[in-house]
Amino acid sequence: MSAGTQGGEAAGEGVPVHRRRPRYPGRNPRRFEHKYKEHRAAEFPEEARHIESRGKTVAGTHRPIMVREVLGVLGPRPGETGVDATLGHGGHALEMLAALTAGGAPGRLLGLDVDPVERPRAEARIRAAGYTEGQFVSVASNHAGLSGAMERLGWEGADVVLADLGVSSMQIDDPARGFSVKFDGPLDLRMNPARGVSAADWLAGASERRIEEALRAGADEARAGELARALAGARAGRAFRRTLELAGWLREWAGPHAGRDAVESLVRRVFQALRIVVNDEYSSLGTFLRLLPTVLRPGGRVAVLTFHSGEDRRVKHAFREGVTSGVYAEAPEEVIRPSAEERRANPRSAPAKLRWARRA
Ligand SMILES: C[S@@+](CC[C@H](N)C(=O)[O-])C[C@H]1O[C@@H](n2cnc3c(N)ncnc32)[C@H](O)[C@@H]1O
Repeated sequence: MSAGTQGGEAAGEGVPVHRRRPRYPGRNPRRFEHKYKEHRAAEFPEEARHIESRGKTVAGTHRPIMVREVLGVLGPRPGETGVDATLGHGGHALEMLAALTAGGAPGRLLGLDVDPVERPRAEARIRAAGYTEGQFVSVASNHAGLSGAMERLGWEGADVVLADLGVSSMQIDDPARGFSVKFDGPLDLRMNPARGVSAADWLAGASERRIEEALRAGADEARAGELARALAGARAGRAFRRTLELAGWLREWAGPHAGRDAVESLVRRVFQALRIVVNDEYSSLGTFLRLLPTVLRPGGRVAVLTFHSGEDRRVKHAFREGVTSGVYAEAPEEVIRPSAEERRANPRSAPAKLRWARRA
C-alpha cells in the first residue's frame, strides 16, 4: 500500500500507513480538502479543540445546536421511542439515545436523512459509540415520509420527535456540495445530489416570475422583483454553473456602496432561496408537520429547530392550529433562542429558533 492511502487503514499486518501531509500554499490549510487534521479530528483532538475555541466548526463535522434546551423540552425518558427526523452528523441523536437507553432501558431511536453521503457516516459514528440495531435504526428518507418509514419498521408511534431543519456544517463547508458562498464548487445545493435538479439547472430554466417567487419565499428579499429581472437578464448572456460565479455576480449587482455585511447577507439569502426550491423544502416541511400528530403517541413531544422566518412561520402556524383543534395539548407561542454563550461559542447557532408541542 502506498504512502498517502486514505482513511487510516493499516498496511498488511496491522502496520499503520505513513501518510504524507497534503500540500497547500501558506502555513495553514484554507481549502476544505486540505484540512486533513480536521477530517481526522479523533487523531488530532488538540487541533479540533483549538478550532472550536475560536467559534469555528471543525471541517467535516457539525456542532449540535441548543442540545440542553432540546432535551429539556423533549424530555426523552428511558425506554421510550424517539425519532431524529434530520440525523445530520448525529450529535442530537447520540444525546437522545443516551437518555432513551439510560440504565439499560429498551429505548430506541429512528434517524432519517436524505443525504446519501453523510447519513452512512452518521450511522457508522453511532454504531462506533456502541448502539446496536435494536437501539438505533437509520433510514434514507425525507422527513415527509416519516410515518411510512415507521410503518415499514413496524414501530407504532414515537414519544419524542426532533427536526433540526436546514443544512449541516458538513454540507456547507464542502465546496463540492455547492452550498459554499466562499469557496468555488458546482452550483448544486441539493441535500441529495441524486434527486431533482441542481441549482444551476434550476436557475437556467426558471421563469423570471418563478425566480422572483423563490426569492420572496426563501430569501425575504425586498428587491426580489428587481433582482429576478437582473438575474434573468444576466443568464441570457452567461450560465451560472459555479458557486463563485453566482456569488460574484450578486456582489457586483449589490454595488460598491452597499456595506459588506449587507452584501454577504444578500448572497447567503439568495443561496438559501435556491436551496429551498431545489430541495422542495417547504413542501416537505408542510407534509411532515401535517402528519406529525399521526406519528406522536398520546403525550408525545416534538421539537423543531428553524433557521429562517419561512420555516419558523410554518412551524408556528401548524402548532397553533394543532392546539386550537385539540391535537396538541400544549405549544408555547414563545420561541426559545440559543444562549449568548452558545452564540459566541458557535456563531452558526445564532439564527436558531426552537419551538415545541405536546400531543394531547
Ligand atoms: C442541521 S442538520 C442536522 C444536524 C443534527 N441535528 C446533528 O446534531 O448533527 C440538517 C440535516 O437534515 C437533513 N435534511 C434536510 N432536509 C431534510 C428532509 N426533508 N428530510 C430528511 N432530512 C433532511 C440534511 O441533509 C442535514 O443532514
